[in-house]
This record gives sequence, structure tokens and C-alpha cells, in this order.
Amino acid sequence: MTDPLPAPDLEHPPADFELSLRPPVFSEFVGQEKVTERLLLMVEAAKRRGEVLQHILLSGPPGLGKTTLANIMAQAVGAKLHTTSGPQIEKAGDLAGILTNLEKGDILFIDEIHRLHPAIEEYLYPAMEDFRLDIIIDQGPNARSIPIHLPRYTLVGATTRAGSLTAPLRARFGMVNRLDYYGVEDLTTIVLRSAGLLGVPADEAGAREIASRARGTPRVANALLRWVRDFAEVRAQGHIDATVADEALAMIEIDRDGIDDMDRRLLEALVYKFSGGPVGLNSLAVAVGEDPTSLEEVHEPFLIMQGFVKRTPRGRVAMPSAYLKVGAPAPRPAQGELDLLH
Ligand SMILES: Nc1ncnc2c1ncn2[C@@H]1O[C@H](COP(=O)(O)OP(=O)(O)OP(=O)(O)O)[C@@H](O)[C@H]1O
Ligand SMILES: [Mg+2]
Repeated sequence: MTDPLPAPDLEHPPADFELSLRPPVFSEFVGQEKVTERLLLMVEAAKRRGEVLQHILLSGPPGLGKTTLANIMAQAVGAKLHTTSGPQIEKAGDLAGILTNLEKGDILFIDEIHRLHPAIEEYLYPAMEDFRLDIIIDQGPNARSIPIHLPRYTLVGATTRAGSLTAPLRARFGMVNRLDYYGVEDLTTIVLRSAGLLGVPADEAGAREIASRARGTPRVANALLRWVRDFAEVRAQGHIDATVADEALAMIEIDRDGIDDMDRRLLEALVYKFSGGPVGLNSLAVAVGEDPTSLEEVHEPFLIMQGFVKRTPRGRVAMPSAYLKVGAPAPRPAQGELDLLH
């Protein structure tokens, strides 16, 4: 019998599915207490003084809630949200078009802000600091810059790579907030909330089983829930408990630690092909057939956080738990270490 269930794409669930589960207000946003507390305070202060929010940077791995928070903040201050992303702004004219369309108090959300073109970034500096855009007209000796005054607005920047932001850009944000991977408790709450919204009967243990295999990421937790719901409908009268969740996730080869197929390939390449490393990102990417950027931004941070991989100046290195995970014998100590034993 062929299996009727399609394999899910955990990193890219359908947009409408994500939208339906996106918490619209702070009170429904689970976890990240330090960040939400600060943002709430800023919102409250700005409202009391009748001022526009200062610029905010949100950083952290994909799927942790950066876009969600930008939406929540706009809602909280009653501002209109304009959304764009670094790669979408190709010319200075694109940026000028966006900025001159803003009204006082609006929020401009720039996703992947680290991917802004350096020349565009230069234009953004005065637009952030002095709410002024310097448009250069003419060329050569006649070139002159004409200032355009902008209304006070709030820039919310999101980045998966805070490290690749230039110092001048970073310095122009009033506040930098880093989102961290979520713990199992928070993710369990998120899964239960999502199950409630989707009308799927799931018990606490079932939700926890999904949460503990979601790589600390709400987007992944929701995507896993979506798969487990399908599985439960076809095989378990729709009800999600720990056994059903476990069987469903085993079927798509997500193990107890949340390690998926790509992670496993990465660990295997590191351990077997490169003898545990150190190996450069690009060689590793070629070995597993994945694009280096997504390897670095999506897969690696989780493997590093879990202690499977270490990033060293000379490249990526497999840690003992990586050997264990792929079923390889632990590496023998280097000769120098052996000498110490004698
Ligand atoms: N704290 C949270 N509580 C409940 N659900 C959350 C939370 N954070 C994120 N989610 C869920 O995870 C999904 C992904 O979040 P979001 O799109 O905000 O991530 P992101 O950080 O912007 O990711 P990317 O870097 O890929 O753009 C949301 O649609 C939402 O359903
Ligand atoms: Mg986003």
C-alpha cells in the first residue's frame, strides 16, 4: 500500500497555515520574557508620551518570532506596518519610495536587514537618525544632494545574523533584542495553543512529545503538529497523544532530539567524510548538497546549541555526541593526549 501522507517541509510551511497560528497580541506570545517585557515597556512609554517608538532590531535564528513580534508591536501602538526585506530593496529609489510613503508613527519592518546593499545602507543612516533622506541628483560636478524630510517612523529590523550587521547600522537602533531557542515547556504551550486554534484534540503528553522534537523553534513545532494531525486523522481517529506523536514523527525520521534528515546528513558527512573536521562551511555544504547560507543559519545553530558541532577558527568540528548520534566509534585521542596517559 502506498502511503497517502505527503512528507512535510518543516522549514517552509504554507503561509496561510503560519498566519492562522501567529499570535496577534503580546499576551498570546509565549516565552522570550526578557524581550517581550522590554518591548512592552517601550510601547507603554511611547504611548504615554505620545511619541513614536524608537528603532528596534530583532535578531535570532529563523522561526523564533521576529516577524510575529513586529506585527504585535504595530498592533500594540496602533501603527500601520509596512513590510519589506533587505534583498527586495535593490536601488536607492526603492528605499526612497518606501520611506516617502510612510506616515507619522508607522512601522517599517525590514526583514533580513543584514542583506541590505551597502550603498542603500548609507541612505538609510540619515533616514534613521535624522528622519532625512539625501537624494543625489545630477552627476559629476553638478551633483548635489537634496534633503527630503521624513515623518517620524519606527524601523524594526530583523536578522538571522546579527554578526553580519555593520557597526554603523547596528548603532542606529535604539534597542537590540536577541531571541533565543525556546525551551520544551514554552513549546508545549505553543503546540497546545495551536492545536486549540486548529481544533485538533491533543493531550499534554502528545504536545510535549512534539515540542521536545521541535529544535527549540515555534515554526518547526507548528509544522510538526500539522504533520502529526494528518497522521492522527488517518491512523488514530484524530486524537494526538504521546504514542501517536512519537509514531508520526518517527515516520518522517525526526528523532528524539529533533534531529532531522539534513542534520543527520551533516553529522555523517562531518564524522565520516571529513574525519570529524575541522572542515570549512563550503566543503560541508557541497558534501550534503545544501546551500551554505541555509546550512549556517538554519541547521548549524541548533546543532551547535545541542553540542553536536563546534565552530572553530579552522572550521567545523564534530563533538563526541555527534559520533554517538551517527553510530560511529568515538574518535581516538590525538597522539599528544595519549602520551599524557602514559
Ligand atoms: N512566541 C510565540 N508564541 C506562539 N507562536 C509563535 C511564537 N513565536 C513564533 N510563533 C509561531 O511561529 C511562526 C514563525 O514565527 P515568525 O514568522 O515570527 O518567525 P521569524 O523569526 O520571523 O522567522 P524568519 O527568520 O524565518 O523570518 C509564527 O507563524 C507563529 O505561529
Ligand atoms: Mg520572519
